[in-house]
Amino acid sequence: MKRRAIFSAALAAAIAATAGSASAEPPPLKQKDRYKVGFAQMESNNPWRIAETKSFKDSAESCNWDLIATDAAGSAAKQVADVDSMIAQGIDVLFLPPREEKPLIPAVKKAKAAGIPTFLVDRSVDESAAKAGEDYVSFLGSDFVDQGRRVADWVIENFKGDKGVIVELEGTTGSSPANDRKSGFDDRIAEDDRFRIVASQSGDFSRDQGRQVMETLLQAHPDVNIVYAHNDEMAIGAIQALELAGRKPGKDVMIVSIDGTRDALQAISDGKMGVTVESSPFFGPLACEVMERYASGEKIEPWVQVKDRVFTVENAADNIADAY
Ligand code: AHR
Repeated sequence: MKRRAIFSAALAAAIAATAGSASAEPPPLKQKDRYKVGFAQMESNNPWRIAETKSFKDSAESCNWDLIATDAAGSAAKQVADVDSMIAQGIDVLFLPPREEKPLIPAVKKAKAAGIPTFLVDRSVDESAAKAGEDYVSFLGSDFVDQGRRVADWVIENFKGDKGVIVELEGTTGSSPANDRKSGFDDRIAEDDRFRIVASQSGDFSRDQGRQVMETLLQAHPDVNIVYAHNDEMAIGAIQALELAGRKPGKDVMIVSIDGTRDALQAISDGKMGVTVESSPFFGPLACEVMERYASGEKIEPWVQVKDRVFTVENAADNIADAY
């Protein structure tokens, strides 16, 4: 414990020295007719990320932004470099979904040192090393722990057998949704002794990796009857792997997940998936509203929480048309 505290203090001092940050508050934002806005996206290899970037681009029109949007192609190092380049281009404000919790912390501190207020969107950073209301203005996003918990609640209520053998497909290692969706689900499911998580492995939030990991885990655990995926893309990959192995997703294997993509809502209507807890990617309008409140001098809450719905066979078909 003590060693970790010393390490954290040393790390914080090193970061502060590099970035030259001093003030306890995040930099203010002047009121302007047009803003130069940076949005440093982490990757564009799934519908969720594509929808989020589109939401920012659509808001640029309505919100009078000159938007610089980048794509780090799945690399935290590139995302750091993208933020560097935005700082050099003189952005007024930064919107950042940090791919992982730790590697983006120096970028957040560097933006602050350059006088640029940062809003974290959809994913957060390690709170012991960077703080809302200090290093960045606020975190705009869902309660990932609660998402995992709500999936577990649905499983507990809807699983009819007396022995639930669970495979968990985790998101990107070191990312806030992977960490929190795991703890929310694992803690709640442990309260019911019918269930056992026999394997938990990362599929990096990707459909293809979800499919591959499921193929491998199925060999080791042929008795699996529940798959919990940290996002819909991996759930769809798992369905593909199960079907290839002759299993019947939705019948002999319960599939549960998070996001609310079009493919997942379709899979629920087709009876292949049980539930997906929503995690909305439509951050553009919220980003615009919160940024304007900040520019007008309002104090922004450290966490602007997004409320999520639950999609099951009762409402999935009705929501497919609006899905992404
Ligand atoms: O940070 C949110 C997660 O990131 C979404 O659930 C996932 O699909 C995305 O890549």
